[in-house]
Order: sequence, then structure tokens, then C-alpha cells
Amino acid sequence: MRSVRLLGFLWVSQVVSGGLLDRHPYRLKEAAVYNNAANIAADHKLKLLKRGDYVETATELVRSIAPNATFRLVDDHYVGTNGVGHVQFKQTANGLDVDNADFNVNIARDGSVFSYGNSFFSGEIPAEVPIEKRELLDPTAALKVALNTLQLPVSGGTSAKAVGGVKSFTIQGASGIVEDPKAQLVYFVKPDNSLALTWRVETKSSEAWVASYVDAEASNPEVVGLVNYISHATYEVYPWGLNDPTEGSRQIVKDPWDLQASRDTWHNDQNTTQGNNAEAGSVPVALVYFPYSENLTFEYPYTPDTADGLTYRDAAVTQIFYTVNMYHDLLYILGFTPAAGNFQTDNYGEGGKDSDPVEVLIHHYNGKNNGNFQRTVDGTSPQMVMYLFDYTDPERDVAFDNGFVIHEYTHGLSGRLTGGPQNSNCLDAFEADGMAEGWGDFYAAAVMLKPNDARENATYGFAAWPTNSTNPPTARKVMYSTDMGVNPWTYSTVNNLTNVHEVGSAWATMLYEVLWNLIDTHGKNDAERPDMVDGVPSDGKYLAMKIVADALALQPCNPTFVQARDAILDADEALTGGQNTCEIWSGFAKRGLGSNAVFRDTGRVDDFTIPDGVC
Ligand SMILES: *[C@@H]1O[C@H](CO)[C@@H](O)[C@H](O)[C@H]1NC(C)=O
Ligand SMILES: *[C@@H]1O[C@H](CO)[C@@H](O)[C@H](O)[C@H]1NC(C)=O
Ligand SMILES: *[C@@H]1O[C@H](CO)[C@@H](O)[C@H](O)[C@H]1NC(C)=O
Ligand SMILES: *[C@@H]1O[C@H](CO)[C@@H](O)[C@H](O)[C@H]1NC(C)=O
Ligand SMILES: *[C@@H]1O[C@H](CO)[C@@H](O)[C@H](O)[C@H]1NC(C)=O
Ligand SMILES: *[C@@H]1O[C@H](CO)[C@@H](O)[C@H](O)[C@H]1NC(C)=O
Ligand SMILES: [Zn+2]
Repeated sequence: MRSVRLLGFLWVSQVVSGGLLDRHPYRLKEAAVYNNAANIAADHKLKLLKRGDYVETATELVRSIAPNATFRLVDDHYVGTNGVGHVQFKQTANGLDVDNADFNVNIARDGSVFSYGNSFFSGEIPAEVPIEKRELLDPTAALKVALNTLQLPVSGGTSAKAVGGVKSFTIQGASGIVEDPKAQLVYFVKPDNSLALTWRVETKSSEAWVASYVDAEASNPEVVGLVNYISHATYEVYPWGLNDPTEGSRQIVKDPWDLQASRDTWHNDQNTTQGNNAEAGSVPVALVYFPYSENLTFEYPYTPDTADGLTYRDAAVTQIFYTVNMYHDLLYILGFTPAAGNFQTDNYGEGGKDSDPVEVLIHHYNGKNNGNFQRTVDGTSPQMVMYLFDYTDPERDVAFDNGFVIHEYTHGLSGRLTGGPQNSNCLDAFEADGMAEGWGDFYAAAVMLKPNDARENATYGFAAWPTNSTNPPTARKVMYSTDMGVNPWTYSTVNNLTNVHEVGSAWATMLYEVLWNLIDTHGKNDAERPDMVDGVPSDGKYLAMKIVADALALQPCNPTFVQARDAILDADEALTGGQNTCEIWSGFAKRGLGSNAVFRDTGRVDDFTIPDGVC
């Protein structure tokens, strides 16, 4: 589930200039327990808990799990587009919030508890002492402690004006800020799991917007926690869904990551295009160049077809870093996680082997007019090597062909999943190798579907821009289309093919049929990422992408088309109980891979039969 707010404490980030890394020790800790849907389903008592509405059910759950805690309902509950209700609670103590003690409850569409996360403080709550009688740090002094510790370029305020009683203040007279700092008295669970009464001091300058928790009772007041609200990084790119410069213009996108898939953003503590999922650089000579931006503002000039590749290398590396990371995050949500063998430096304890971000090398000195992806086993970084294309003058830089980049990365996906993360020798037989090309073209086309595409006019090519292919606009032999008049290829076409990219086009043609059948049934979500309902994408486009990915992990080493088709049917069986059998069989049968299709090295036989009873 993407929507679980378990990662709510991970807004923390790098990014602003001024030594924010120094504040790292004060980051909030991941303290929540997450009880996932499978656990809940196994617990009859929890599963049966149901009250009048989803908020009441959630409230009752919190009471039953934390019977001694006082808490309040946060006023932001809602039912997501996936039917899941999200309800947030904040723990309170002596009438004050415990600011980092949260409880989030997710309620399934049928009103039962789906899952929950809990970071409530379970230790002893101090007895209440009237605030007026306590020796508390003055709020202006708390601001000074925060500013000193964090080295913020702000000069301290001079007077505190109470707002709403004795617990909240605005501090006036500070300079170098966007808004007057605020101080509010709250409890805070310290990293050593003790409870402190603190001033929550919020400072907002143009460079940093930070909440600091300053111990209000210690004789030697110090910052005990920090939340940085700014996690800005910007990238000037052809945004996700545009294939290449002919389809639109570059835009500045901000913080495009998914925090579940990339919990420390795409940069971790680096100020370059070297991050947890990919390290992208330019290698016109045997020395890698990485763009560097102290404030993570990756905005660089580029005008297509005006100059040679190296003059805009920052823009090109930024583009490919963005595309590769977007794809990492999408595939993570679709199931290509660390445990499944994905590409990350740090797997954050989620299984699999660390230390294998994709090394993306563009402008490679070693060639022209191609790209490749070297498959490796889990724990070893693969290289995506991309060359300049000299079909045109000036040359075109394939780093701006997002479909091409997705194709290459998909070699990593199919290689890791087929035969398991520790075996990279499972896509080498002729049909298997061909399908590896086909999966790449298929995912590229699926990502590039436009909001107003319909089955009859959604015709996609591949790498038309760098190869300057115009008639038809593709570097492949056929366009991807469900129209037999536009693309007549069937399984037996493979008998006439000798090149794996062409075999891949036959396979991608079949997958493209399945894609549109699923879109016809379930619709098409044009957002950058799917809505997941109980682990199933709610729309046909992302459902097709997930089923095809799940099948990679089911199929045997060096599969045939027939076996890969069967694995796709099985993936749907595992995911949905086989609700899409008709859509899948119809797509394959239309292209000759029906139930009596025969694999032979030479002499493959088309069959257009859909098994009885599936439609
Ligand atoms: C609640 O408080 C009572 C009385 O102090 C204690 O016996 C009990 O263990 C507490 N329950 C939980 C779940 O903490
Ligand atoms: C990133 O930039 C910050 C702010 O200038 C600096 O303190 C830090 O050392 C840089 N990080 C790296 C890895 O270069
Ligand atoms: C980031 O740094 C660059 C170069 O120092 C500067 O031109 C730009 O204005 C900064 N951007 C932001 C958003 O601070
Ligand atoms: C692409 O090819 C066409 C001919 O097919 C040619 O007229 C055109 O100039 C080429 N484009 C570039 C940018 O070289
Ligand atoms: C494709 O067809 C649909 C349905 O007829 C139409 O709404 C849409 O505008 C068409 N798209 C393009 C790009 O022509
Ligand atoms: C294969 O090629 C032969 C000779 O060019 C042609 O006659 C035949 O129709 C082709 N078969 C398919 C299935 O495309
Ligand atoms: Zn390929």
C-alpha cells in the first residue's frame, strides 16, 4: 500500500544549503510499528471489529490497542480513491500533544480494519504540574537554542507574544526569516524513548523551514529533535509520459520521488546525480562527470538540435537520472522491491542485497548509435551504457529518449526476476532473449500512453527520435498497435526473424493487445503512479504492468513465448484469482498464441483459440 503514512517521519532531507547535514543527528527516528493487512486478516478479533462508520471503527481500534493512552482524532481523515479510509490520531498527555506519537488506521472498503501503524509512547506519562508553576525555558530562549544549534542564518527574536493561551507563542523581532517563528509547548518522545516537555520552535527562512524540539525543562537546554519540512530538489526535464523532445517541452518538476520507494529521496546525502537508486554521469572520456548542485537545483539549459551532446551534459544527465529514478519508484510500487532483487545502494533492511544502484553512463566514449544494459546478479551494480546517435547533425542524445531509457532499465527488471535475483543467465535462449527486448518496448509504450489515447489511435514506435525514423516513426519493423492493418504480426512471424529485437517486437505486440484489453475492462489511470487496492492496481494500464512483471518471477529460466504467456495467466491467478483470464487469452489468441499454439525452433504454429469457458 502506498498510502500508509508510516513514512510520515521521513520528510527529513538534505537539500537546503547551509550545512543541513550537520543536523542529521537530530532527525526523527523511525519508531512506528506497522501491522500490515496480512497480520490483520489473520487476527479475527481485529478483523471483526466494526462500528458505525470508518472513523468510529478506527477510534475503537486505537482504544483497544492503547487502552491507557489519551489521544485526539486529527481532522484529516478521508477515503482514498482505492476505497481505503485513512484516519490519523495524535497521542496527548496532560492536554498537550505528544508531537511524534501517531497512530494511523486504514479501514478497508467493507468497513473492517485493513492495517495500522502505531508510534504511541507506551512509557510512564508524567503527572501534571500546572505550567505556570513550572520553571520553564522562555520561548525566546528556546528559539536562540534552536538557531545556535542548527546554525540557521536567522538572528534571534526579542519578544514572545502569546497566542491562544500560555502554550503557544509567536516570537517577534527576528530577522532573516519569512514568517515570525512560532513556539508551542508539546511533549516529545526522545530517541532514548523518554518523554520530554519541549518547545516546538518553527522557523521558516528562504533556505530552510524547520521545526526544532528544544527541551523546556533541562538545566542545559538542547535540541532533542528536528523536522525539516523542505525537501526540495528540482529537475528540468521532459516529464514522465513524454517520450522525447518531439512530444513536448521541458518542465521544472519538484520532489518527484515516491517516499515509500525512495525513503531518503533520490539523493540521500549526495549533492550530485549519485543517489541510492542510480548513479548517473557522463563519460566522453574514461572519467565520469557528475552534475553537482549544492541546493539540488538540477536546472540546466538545453535546446534540441542546436549543439553537440557534451555542451549540455548537465541537462542530459539530469534527464536520465530523473527517468531512471521515476522508473525505479514505479517498479517498486508494482513489486520490484529490494527483496525481489531491485537496484539500490541501501535496501533499508527490506531484503535482497545492497550495493547495486544502476550505473548510468551517457555519452560513452566507446561507441555510437546504441545503448545497452549489463545484467548482473543482486548485489552487483549493472551498467546502463548510452551512446550519442549520429543519424542527425548535430547528434542526438538518447538520454532524452525516455522510452529508450525505460527499455534499457527493463533489461534489468526482466534479468533480475527471471530465474531469481542470483541468476542472470535466464534470458539467453532465442525466444527468451527476444522477449527481453519485447518487455523493454512494452513498458516504454505503456509509460508513454497519453491521457486521450484510445485503442484505435494509440500507435507507438520506439527510438524514432535518436534514429530520425519518420516513416513509420520507429526504429523497429512494426508500430505497436492493436490494429491488424497497422501491425499484422503473429507468433509465426517469429519463424522468419533472426534478430532478437524483431522477436521482441512480436512479443511486445502481444503484450500490447493484453494491455488494451485490460484498459477496456478496468480503465486507464493517467497519473504517474498507480492506485493500489489491496496490492492490485485499480486500473488496466498499471494492472497489465504489474501482471507482466509478476509473471517474470514465475516463468522458468529461458522461457518460450508459450511459457511466458502461461506465466502471465498464472500471475493474474495469483494476484486477482484469475479475474482477467479472458482479457489475457484474447490478447494472445488474436496474435497467434492461442491455446494450441506450438513452439518449435523452426516451424512455430499459430493458433487463435481461446479456451472454452474463459470468456
Ligand atoms: C494500563 O494501566 C494499567 C494500570 O496502570 C496497567 O496495569 C496496564 O498494564 C496498562 N495497560 C497497558 C496496555 O499498557
Ligand atoms: C552538499 O552541500 C552541503 C551544503 O553546501 C555541504 O555541506 C555538503 O558537504 C554537500 N554534500 C556533499 C556530499 O558534497
Ligand atoms: C541554487 O544554487 C544556484 C547556484 O548557486 C543558484 O543560482 C540558485 O538560485 C539556487 N536555487 C535555489 C532555489 O536556491
Ligand atoms: C531526418 O531525416 C530526414 C530525411 O528522412 C532529413 O530531411 C532531416 O534533415 C533529418 N533530421 C535531422 C535533424 O537531421
Ligand atoms: C483518440 O481517439 C479518442 C476516441 O475517439 C479521441 O477522444 C482522442 O482525441 C484521440 N486522440 C488523438 C491523439 O487523436
Ligand atoms: C516468411 O517469409 C516468407 C518468405 O519471405 C513468406 O513467404 C512468408 O509469408 C513469411 N511468413 C510469415 C509468417 O511472415
Ligand atoms: Zn534491448
